[in-house]
Amino acid sequence: MDFLTWMDTIQQRTESALEAALPAPDLAPARLHDAMRYAVLGGGKRVRPLLCHAAGAIFDVDSKVLDAPAIAVELIHAYSLVHDDLPCMDDDDLRRGKPSCHVQFDEATALLVGDALQTLAFQTLSTRLAGIAAARQVDMLHLLALASGSRGMAGGQAIDLAAVGQQLTIGELEYMHIHKTGALIRAAVLLGAHCGEAAPDALEHLRHFANRIGLLFQVVDDILDAEASTATLGKTAGKDAAQNKPTYVNILGAREAKTMASKLRQDAHDALAPFGDSARRLHELADFIVERTF
Ligand code: IPE
Ligand code: IPE
Ligand code: MG
Ligand code: MG
Ligand code: MG
Repeated sequence: MDFLTWMDTIQQRTESALEAALPAPDLAPARLHDAMRYAVLGGGKRVRPLLCHAAGAIFDVDSKVLDAPAIAVELIHAYSLVHDDLPCMDDDDLRRGKPSCHVQFDEATALLVGDALQTLAFQTLSTRLAGIAAARQVDMLHLLALASGSRGMAGGQAIDLAAVGQQLTIGELEYMHIHKTGALIRAAVLLGAHCGEAAPDALEHLRHFANRIGLLFQVVDDILDAEASTATLGKTAGKDAAQNKPTYVNILGAREAKTMASKLRQDAHDALAPFGDSARRLHELADFIVERTF
């Protein structure tokens, strides 16, 4: 199967799994459920589910087993976007080509959507998963909790807000990116690997790979924010400069940021060497992360 067909297949099964996991729109409280579905369904590249499935593929894990962890990370990600767009954070009106959740609904609803999506993620991942030992499943829950919390994504977002208008060093910028975006990307890869009972050395190689693409993902997001159009991105372009956010582009310049992206991409490919052809989808996703236009 070529990469684009594979990607389409995983995106479709992710959409179905999310649809099944989300409460029906007419179930009370209907407005909250409607808003949760609005924030999650019918949009997004689904990069984290793709990474989870691609990592599981190294160990020949059945896609059915990977659906739950894949959508658990996506639910956390979707919640992080709803909160990221709130007026008290990035104050963004457009997300995935539609009005942001708080614009379409209201701020209080958007806040609750985030809360409810976060718990739905853990509800999904804590449901008995056929084919996964209970102890392994607890490890997976722990991993996702760490990646989402104050030492992971939420912590990265706190650093991002505190950094507005500051002159960060490259090291500080890297630290921020590795947390706000890298943590969930890394969780996606490792959850997929855990489903395959990956041995410690394999996990270590994948952790290294995931660290590189996690940083890479945000470097490319920063480049796109500076260079792409709102229409292509489906979110407001030029926000980082307008809000005085430190990014690789405004600290290093666009050219250097792209050089850095190429280097991270190469490091990511190198980290997969021990897996040979079984890591083909992860190689393809590393390329996709750099070459994407939105
Ligand atoms: C955007 O993530 C926010 C970041 C963490 C950089 P994505 O680019 O994965 O957004 P969607 O899910 O495709 O909308
Ligand atoms: C968001 O980073 C990271 C998280 C949501 C955790 P950005 O603020 O750069 O994401 P976009 O550009 O709004 O998608
Ligand atoms: Mg932000
Ligand atoms: Mg934002
Ligand atoms: Mg951005």
